[in-house]
Amino acid sequence: MVQTRKQAREATPDSAAASDNSTPSPSPRKSKSKSKAKLIEEEDQVSFGVIDFLRIVLGVVVFSCALSYFIIGDSYVWGQDKFFRKQWNGVRRVFVKPIYMDEATLRLYNGTDETLPIYLSINCTIYDVTEGRAKYGPGGGYSFFAGRDASRAYITGDFKNDLTWDVSGIDEDRVKRALGHWANFFKNHEIYTFVGYLIKDPNNAKKKEPIEGAKDTENKRDEL
Ligand code: HEM
Repeated sequence: MVQTRKQAREATPDSAAASDNSTPSPSPRKSKSKSKAKLIEEEDQVSFGVIDFLRIVLGVVVFSCALSYFIIGDSYVWGQDKFFRKQWNGVRRVFVKPIYMDEATLRLYNGTDETLPIYLSINCTIYDVTEGRAKYGPGGGYSFFAGRDASRAYITGDFKNDLTWDVSGIDEDRVKRALGHWANFFKNHEIYTFVGYLIKDPNNAKKKEPIEGAKDTENKRDEL
């Protein structure tokens, strides 16, 4: 039984002595004071462990979330939802096993089947953009990006003729700048999530003949 400091001080000589009967004591008075000191020492040694620390942190987090919801109304994180979603997406990406998908399979995820999520690919990296159904779903202003990798169109802005991953023939700096901009847009997006990688079909290259000096983007995933 743990005694408080006060209880220890007020303990009767008998009880104090009884609690310390393991050590031989020459005099009852000495034994009494020793046992009191021991009890006080024991009480002072109450350890503050990792579990206690985690309990406090959890308590503070729960309290902060509740207060935020009470004050702001629709946010548990003081309106910083986008920031936290972005961080979560980054963490998630490290642990999620990427799916490797060929172009034919990716086409199924273009939003026409409402039971499936909407995927798009950029620089051969696939993202789930279902939350952007208004833009990428059927009838949306950017529906042509859904279910395919249209990396070239992100650079040229030709949404009719350049809906292909093939960026050959375009100046490398321009590829890095323009495609890099949009690749980072999806990579760092707070709502769209990483899915995996596209397995390119060489038959879908825009130019059937390789252009001299043009480089394959196969190994440039995520490098932009
Ligand atoms: C290379 C050219 C362009 C590319 C690759 C491009 C790409 C995109 C993409 C991917 C989005 C969707 C962003 C999201 O998911 O939130 C978007 C949104 C948008 N773009 Fe473009 N865009 C281009 C040019 C333009 C131009 C010239 C205009 C204006 C005439 C424009 C107007 C818009 C608007 C208004 C939105 C927001 C749509 C919304 O939130 O509903 N874009 N753009």
